[in-house]
Amino acid sequence: MDRSLWLRGGLYLGFALGMMGLLAGIEGVDLNRVIVASVILVSSLAIFQLNHQQSASRNGRVFLVFGGILIHLWVARFLSESTVGFFPDDSLRFLLVPLALAPMVHSVLLGQRAGVYSSVFVSLFGALIVPVDDRWVFFSISICCGLTTVFATKRVSKRGRLLRAGFWVGVVALLLNLLFAKISISQLGLSGADVWQDFGRSCLMALSTGLLTGLFVGGILPLLEGVFGLTTEISWLELSDLNHPLLRRMQLEAPGTFHHSLIVASLAESAAEAIGSNAVMSRVCSYFHDIGKLSKPEYFIENQGGVNPHDELTPTMSALIIVAHVKEGVDLAIKTKLNSKILEVIQEHHGDSLVYYFYRKAQEKLQKEQVERQRGESPSDDLAKVDEKSFRYPGPIPQSKESGIVSLADAIESASRAMSKPTPSRIKGLVDEIVFNRIKDGQLDDCGLTMSELKKIREVFSKTLRSVLHSRIEYPKGRSEDPPSDLSTLTKVVPAEEIERVRRQRQKGE
Ligand SMILES: [Fe+2]
Ligand SMILES: [Fe+2]
Repeated sequence: MDRSLWLRGGLYLGFALGMMGLLAGIEGVDLNRVIVASVILVSSLAIFQLNHQQSASRNGRVFLVFGGILIHLWVARFLSESTVGFFPDDSLRFLLVPLALAPMVHSVLLGQRAGVYSSVFVSLFGALIVPVDDRWVFFSISICCGLTTVFATKRVSKRGRLLRAGFWVGVVALLLNLLFAKISISQLGLSGADVWQDFGRSCLMALSTGLLTGLFVGGILPLLEGVFGLTTEISWLELSDLNHPLLRRMQLEAPGTFHHSLIVASLAESAAEAIGSNAVMSRVCSYFHDIGKLSKPEYFIENQGGVNPHDELTPTMSALIIVAHVKEGVDLAIKTKLNSKILEVIQEHHGDSLVYYFYRKAQEKLQKEQVERQRGESPSDDLAKVDEKSFRYPGPIPQSKESGIVSLADAIESASRAMSKPTPSRIKGLVDEIVFNRIKDGQLDDCGLTMSELKKIREVFSKTLRSVLHSRIEYPKGRSEDPPSDLSTLTKVVPAEEIERVRRQRQKGE
């Protein structure tokens, strides 16, 4: 349903009808206004379809964008009509219109580009529902307030930031009303208390409309996130709490996996940040990517303290247990109602790659049995073949940039543990090798990462891994290599908890 073309056509038609209904009841609608409205309507549909393909391909998002614009305009029309005669100067009633409503919702939920689209079209359509004399002033104030919202909500990590954005919208609305002389300051020095009272009321109205918009959007965001299956940065930050029951369980039952997940999170977050992807989401997904290991933690090398249960198993059996952690992770994520993006990363973090170690072991075992049979030492004639399929993860391969980054960070962290004497050049070599092998194996085909982004990611991985392995790195004699500046306070590395602590401190300082 989310991708049905019929439904999308219906939504476009519904938007056009809703807009016609909005303009139909307005007094003084002339032919000119109808033509202008039609041109704006066609442009809005065409620009959305061509420039916002990611949103335009999902019906839920189409509904959110068009529905948001329509609601914004109906509220604007209702408030501007119902407050006629309420103020000494009628144009002041526009101070009550929440000009930042749709741009704020779209910017926070769908990103800045959607916010700008929303700002432009609520302003253009909005200008058609106000009296002709106020049209340009309304358009200017509306678009400036909309764009202010988009800039002020660039990185909203706390709900309180929405209030701050609302405050700035109020300030811009106030300044523009003063600039266009809608709020008069020329008589302030001349007259008595009434003028000051009107002036104060206008200022208060502009600021409180902005603040109330921020408050309202903050309140309805969780509802919109749930209905449209979207997650804002605010929610990702709330999800990044290491006290989540599953993560606490991991700390106790699979401490090695927990430690591994923290380092993967550090690598993935910095890489995502470097290419402008969702860094907090990458971090949170990394925390949870291996929760499937909780059902049999002792079968994974990072949790083994000398005893290896795989010694007692055939390679096929071992591979089966290793591969199963993906499915078990997905089951656990569904059971605990984890975010759908986390579930996708759990499912995709190994793609359909091969559990190479046990595959090789099975092949070696088969070769050994074949030699024994040729010598006549083996009683059995039936030698089981090594089926590559049973040594592969079920997939799918990563479908988003963040998922691709987590899968690379996961592979790199696992491989780095086996490095006996890490040096900066060996770390770089390891990172490059893993990334190139993943590309060659087709594991990154669907995630949308470009070659230039992968280059940046490789650089960031090497830099972050150098920080993580800092205490183990052997620098060449006579050459001092500076540790990366941002994590340079770490002198002893392996404790990833320390990295987590420094990262949090850094975040607090921002
Ligand atoms: Fe895994
Ligand atoms: Fe992992």
